[in-house]
Amino acid sequence: MLAGKKVLVTGCAGFLGPWVCELLLEQGIGVVGLDRVYPAGSRIHALADRVRLKEVDIENFDACRRLIEDEEINVIFHLAAQAIVGLANDNPIPTFASNIMGTWNVMEAARMARKSGQAIDAIVVASSDKAYGDQENLPYLEDAPMQGRFPYDVSKSCTDLIARSYFHSYGMPVCITRCGNLYGGGDLHLSRIVPGTILALLAGHAPLIRSDGSPVRDYIYVQDAASAAVAIATRMVGDTSVHGQAFNISNDAPVSVLAIVRKIAAMMGREDLAPVIEGRASREIQAQYLSSERIRALLGWAPEFELEDGLGRAIAWYTRWYADSSASGYKHSAPSA
Ligand SMILES: NC(=O)c1ccc[n+]([C@@H]2O[C@H](COP(=O)([O-])OP(=O)(O)OC[C@H]3O[C@@H](n4cnc5c(N)ncnc54)[C@H](O)[C@@H]3O)[C@@H](O)[C@H]2O)c1
Repeated sequence: MLAGKKVLVTGCAGFLGPWVCELLLEQGIGVVGLDRVYPAGSRIHALADRVRLKEVDIENFDACRRLIEDEEINVIFHLAAQAIVGLANDNPIPTFASNIMGTWNVMEAARMARKSGQAIDAIVVASSDKAYGDQENLPYLEDAPMQGRFPYDVSKSCTDLIARSYFHSYGMPVCITRCGNLYGGGDLHLSRIVPGTILALLAGHAPLIRSDGSPVRDYIYVQDAASAAVAIATRMVGDTSVHGQAFNISNDAPVSVLAIVRKIAAMMGREDLAPVIEGRASREIQAQYLSSERIRALLGWAPEFELEDGLGRAIAWYTRWYADSSASGYKHSAPSA
């Protein structure tokens, strides 16, 4: 149970962070949010009267430690990361700094806090399906080795291994989440495939597909990813036997990039706008998807939203957002998926 715990959500101003904060607030849990930037459009601002928002860079160890100790944090959702694959490929050093150094800073700050007597009950660390890298056997199972090759993938392999080393070496209460592509309202990274496609279609443009459309991926509705993370932390507090585990989070229904773009177009009644296939994506794995058997069996968690339900919600959210931002004079750059 998380009741009575003080919870820190790192990366609270990003896409997933506000969804996790909302679920925690619904349970009456006290939440402290950490991010280094609070963009104007972030959904976190709607929660600002209920979440204590702190501007901290996780590359700064002392700041992480002060925050965890001063706020008497018991449970951490570590989501903060440079999470855009293309940006990571173009800028490996800042990506490694946020994702790798940032993770060891958060883990070490929590270890120091516990050493000085603070109760640290659960740390849920967001890894990714990308942490597996290219594997012969699909779907990915949790015991497959971490073997990312490209900058983002390597940063998540390292995040995952470093976080678990704190369980194995120091008995820290750590669990890992590995999700495929998240989608849903509030993702302001408009180059990602779902928001990029919806916005292109809303603007009356053909959606662009950077790859040849054939890569196969998992897509999971953001609220399901948040509910899985909260379910894991909740179990960790009362059951140390799950500590150290990694959990794949998936609806076990992978689809190709082309198929999801076509599905969105069909749902929006814009099949007339055929996607433009650029075929220029590089450093991409052809097929990656997860089995979520472990979390279903051990925790009884299951996703609530099928792809069609989640996409319907995402389309509704971006349609409202597009109308509001267009009305306020916001200029959409040419979206691409
Ligand atoms: N979005 C996805 O499809 C997806 C899939 C699998 C795993 N993940 C992982 O889930 C987590 C959340 O993803 P997201 O989509 O919400 O990402 P996001 O980019 O929307 O949010 C991440 C947040 O972390 C913050 N951040 C980055 N570096 C920081 C630093 N040095 N100090 C403090 N804050 C920092 C950013 O400002 C941002 O608000 C990430 O760890 C990501 O790698 C995401």
